[in-house]
Amino acid sequence: MEITFIKRFITTSIGRKAVMAVSGLLLGGFMLVHLAENLLLFKGEAAYNGWVDMLLSNPVTPLLELGLLFLFLAHIITGAWVRVEDFLNAPSGYEARKWQGGRTIGSATMLYTAAAVLAYLAYHMLTFRFTDHSMGFYQMVTYAFRDPVFVAVYVAGSAALALHLSHGMQSAFQTLGVNHPKYTPLIKIGGILVAVAMTGFALISVYYLLGIDIKAAQAGYNVVIIR
Ligand code: HEM
Repeated sequence: MEITFIKRFITTSIGRKAVMAVSGLLLGGFMLVHLAENLLLFKGEAAYNGWVDMLLSNPVTPLLELGLLFLFLAHIITGAWVRVEDFLNAPSGYEARKWQGGRTIGSATMLYTAAAVLAYLAYHMLTFRFTDHSMGFYQMVTYAFRDPVFVAVYVAGSAALALHLSHGMQSAFQTLGVNHPKYTPLIKIGGILVAVAMTGFALISVYYLLGIDIKAAQAGYNVVIIR
């Protein structure tokens, strides 16, 4: 019975779309939590390192990481599958008509932004996750963000992520059949807000590139001297 249920999810087009939608929404939720975690950078070294160290030494974290990996894989595999299916089943002339009927830049570029986000994620994992953490996470992150090339990757990657979610969030609710005259406009606004929030990752990197933290610390130091 249960096997039949899972099989139906993987082997039917609607099942694959549902998996893509649910995994996408959960990944969007992770992105918001991760952004909140990284805002701790502004609270300083002790707060940021304390949080990340606590997280990585928690015995539950490997399970959460495994869940996250599963969500990414489920989203990528079903996303690619649905895309190939749509392409093969599309009537001729579909490409030309695609822009009719309220297509946005977000919806028209989903495939490209997906590829860009995947590349961004791979770069992020190699440089921040699977690397030497001996200098401490705060030092590692703020040092990396002094490099303009590194920050350019974060600005471009975060823009792609924002564009991807600007369509992805509301599209996921639609796939799951949430269609209500009162709530659908709110879901659309919520999706746009989540997308805009993703530019926060870029802003954090630019903050350190411009040395605003150093200037703020120096300004504070001057105040002490004048006194
Ligand atoms: C300001 C930008 C960002 C900073 C400073 C940052 C920082 C970090 C750090 C220090 C880690 C390793 C420690 C940990 O596992 O918690 C990490 C892990 C991770 N980051 Fe980011 N991140 C940023 C943006 C992003 C973005 C945009 C994505 C997705 C596209 C992302 C996805 C992940 C994932 C999936 C992990 C692994 C989580 C885990 O293994 O627990 N991060 N990030």
